Amino acid sequence: MSRLILALDVLDREKAMNIAKRVAPHVHAIKVGWPLVMNTGIEVVSEISRYAPVICDFKVADIPNTTRLIVRTARENGASGIIVHSFVGHDSVEAAVAEAGDMSVYVVTEMSHPGALDFMQSVTNRMIEIAKNAGAKGIIAPATRPERLREIRKIAGELEILSPGVGAQGGKAKDAIEAGADYIIVGRRIYNAEDPEKEAMAINKEIEKE
Ligand code: XMP
Repeated sequence: MSRLILALDVLDREKAMNIAKRVAPHVHAIKVGWPLVMNTGIEVVSEISRYAPVICDFKVADIPNTTRLIVRTARENGASGIIVHSFVGHDSVEAAVAEAGDMSVYVVTEMSHPGALDFMQSVTNRMIEIAKNAGAKGIIAPATRPERLREIRKIAGELEILSPGVGAQGGKAKDAIEAGADYIIVGRRIYNAEDPEKEAMAINKEIEKE
């Protein structure tokens, strides 16, 4: 079973569907976010879910009621997971989990880009607590900082760790898995590759021994 999640941040429906079909057999899930959904419509979620489970990376950061509406829309369109922010507080994350039903909720804790050090890193531990207490399925933590991933793994308990930042942002797939990620999220390295399917298979090979 693959521990790879494809981040499908392309803007064109046909290109997205072609990559999704070819890469789906080699990934655990496909993550779609605002770039694709804004350019093609929310129906793309159910279309892609015919090939692989879809995680909606909507980074929801709103009051509980609006959070519920967004989570419901993702669920009704066939998503199997959704990513939400926790800096907005426990009640919004709880609302997401309550509305999610069978869908998994993943909570952003520390982002992979350099700007995450401005504010986020100082409250990562509290955000992990919010995720745990709300009954989230997992958290998002950075492959760009394996030393942080190790620390986060220690306090994350049963939470799954999904880790973006491999490839274009400089993180290494194997380092992230060794540091405790359950799944790695990879976008540009796959969808910009000449042969995305081959690239996904190569990444699986890099991490399969773990
Ligand atoms: P690349 O092209 O850099 O794409 O492989 C990475 C994907 O993951 C998203 N991303 C994040 N999502 N927390 C998140 O919830 C993060 O720290 C984070 N860093 C990257 C990014 O939007 C892209 O889809």
